[in-house]
Amino acid sequence: TANGLALTPPMGWNTWNRFGCTINETLIRQAADAMVSSGMRDAGYVYIVIDDCWQGERDAKGNIQPDAQRFPSGMKALGDYIHAQGLKFGIYSDAGKLTCGKRPGSLGHEYQDALTYASWGVDYLKYDWCSTYTQDARSTYETMSDALRATGRPIVFSICEWGLNKPWLWGETIGNLWRTTDDIYDHWEGRHGFEHSVMDILDLQVGLETYAGPGHWNDPDMLEVGNGKMTLEEYKSHFSLWAVLAAPLMAGNDLANMSADIKTILTNGEVIAVDQDPLGIQASRVAKHGDYEVWARPLKGGGRAVVLLNRSASTHAVTVTWDDLHLPANLRLKVRDLWAHRDLPEASGRFSADVPSHGVVMLRME
Ligand code: GLA
Repeated sequence: TANGLALTPPMGWNTWNRFGCTINETLIRQAADAMVSSGMRDAGYVYIVIDDCWQGERDAKGNIQPDAQRFPSGMKALGDYIHAQGLKFGIYSDAGKLTCGKRPGSLGHEYQDALTYASWGVDYLKYDWCSTYTQDARSTYETMSDALRATGRPIVFSICEWGLNKPWLWGETIGNLWRTTDDIYDHWEGRHGFEHSVMDILDLQVGLETYAGPGHWNDPDMLEVGNGKMTLEEYKSHFSLWAVLAAPLMAGNDLANMSADIKTILTNGEVIAVDQDPLGIQASRVAKHGDYEVWARPLKGGGRAVVLLNRSASTHAVTVTWDDLHLPANLRLKVRDLWAHRDLPEASGRFSADVPSHGVVMLRME
């Protein structure tokens, strides 16, 4: 890996999906408080990442400063507040002259910005790809990766160039995660301009499994769980699929105003344990019969995590066969339902369950 960090997929919260450019230091502090009081920190979510629009202008020496209206206390104080909650501090910049929100990017200031971030106590940098024109992606991300390393502070590096230049082919030694697609939006299926729904992103992960591993992850973008445009069943599926994919789990909802149902989804420890399995093997789609799919990954200790997915409009049985899992048909396996939190009867050869429309059954078999 680039820096020995993110040996399991990073977990945290990011401002963008819910708040976009409408952010300030009070909102960030409240999110940090809610991360702790909701139990999310203890469930593993540690990074509080401030996405685009925190920046003001550069000073006379070229040092980046926060937007003084929105972040009057400054970034060092905000980082200290986040650290005092037992959390880690993430920030955002862009590889070009301007960020996607038209704030100053880091082009030409990479080493200077990296030192500034380190002086603020930054632990995570998401680095975007707007206004980069003819820049070469690999060498551009390499420059910031080197700049971060030169600070001597451990900083997780998130490559956000939307999968345009196949970052899975070169990202492993440069960053800890790389976006595989353009942005997610809070929707189950289809596309909206450049934005991808959950099912659309899922389809785009097929074939990328082999590039993920400890320290270097495919990033199918941040979670939309709790943002209001999908059903609870769909959010449960979104979360289960991201976990089986060994995806970074960056919550993107309003933590301070989260319903009990959403909190139950985001803090399901048995699902999170699959995401954080130390082997770090991303699931493959091992079976697809029309709208019925099986996603599976090996886990440390010889078990398997299996997601039975029903993309159709009504409840239907979905089956995984031991053949799908490359296991001998006569093998008896223990089966545990990770949403019902209960052990099911042992199975051999195949396992079927009725799965609700747009739902999943998520299992651990060993
Ligand atoms: C791009 C990224 C998003 C977000 C916005 C901010 O679209 O892909 O995740 O960071 O920029 O402007």
